Amino acid sequence: MPMKIIAIANQKGGVGKTTTSVNLGACLAERGVRVVLLDLDPQANSTSALGFTPGEHPSIYQRLLGGGDVSNLVMRTKYENLFLIPCDMDLAGCEIEMAREDDHLVRLKRLLTPFKANFPADYMLIDCPPSLGVLMTSALAAADELIVPLQCEYFGLEGLSKIVGVHQQIRDSGANSEVVLEGIVMTMADSRTNLSSMVINDVRQYFPQVTYQTVIPRNIRLGEAPSYGQTIIDYAPTCSGAIAYRALAEEFLQRHAEAPEDSISRRDHSVSQPL
Ligand SMILES: Nc1ncnc2c1ncn2[C@@H]1O[C@H](COP(=O)(O)OP(=O)(O)O)[C@@H](O)[C@H]1O
Ligand SMILES: [Mg+2]
Repeated sequence: MPMKIIAIANQKGGVGKTTTSVNLGACLAERGVRVVLLDLDPQANSTSALGFTPGEHPSIYQRLLGGGDVSNLVMRTKYENLFLIPCDMDLAGCEIEMAREDDHLVRLKRLLTPFKANFPADYMLIDCPPSLGVLMTSALAAADELIVPLQCEYFGLEGLSKIVGVHQQIRDSGANSEVVLEGIVMTMADSRTNLSSMVINDVRQYFPQVTYQTVIPRNIRLGEAPSYGQTIIDYAPTCSGAIAYRALAEEFLQRHAEAPEDSISRRDHSVSQPL
């Protein structure tokens, strides 16, 4: 089976996109699934979380502007089965340069099409930047599936309707009519407050099938791990954050095991009503 491309996106910053990309990636890799993490955020947080120095290696931006082969950007990480296409902060201006080109929406898709067919991996996770700009929309145009991390707080819900709208626009525009909303992952849940469970219940009501059962708790270790260039499974393997991301990987694999095409398109259309 060719690699499946999954955009981890939400236009809001600080909702757990990077934490989910890195730790879901590591927990999948731990189970023998081959994962390429593509860092598409100029802040390069995924790159540094995996222990790389942003700017030290050629990044995806150079290909977005100049074209070429993506496979020679792939770095091995210290985790077997987890690979990184790094990003570098100097190229934040790339988004502006790209926007001037008529084909900006499909550039990433064009780069990733041969890579997807040829590189021996099961999944690519794209850690998207926190904006509705060219990079994020081009990730949606290149992706098979979208996973939205959503913070368990009231304003998280507002953000959700926006990203769901952008997803629909990408489908309608013809840039990528196939991309499905595969999942919503509730993050930073605080078991001491009612608000988290109220928000989770609301999201489950609107997106009953799409919302992951696994909820990521607020856990300080998840915030600390990146500064040591580690994922949660080696920084604090028994903490609640590690347990949650392992459970998320398990649920992800279960969802992708059963007749993938069918089950996902069914899930995608099971949105009960617009937000
Ligand atoms: N479940 C969590 N519990 C505690 N802190 C978290 C959790 N998830 C993320 N963080 C921290 O919150 C901040 C924002 O998370 P991050 O994954 O970088 O969000 P994004 O990529 O969406 O901007 C980071 O400092 C991160 O370490
Ligand atoms: Mg991030």
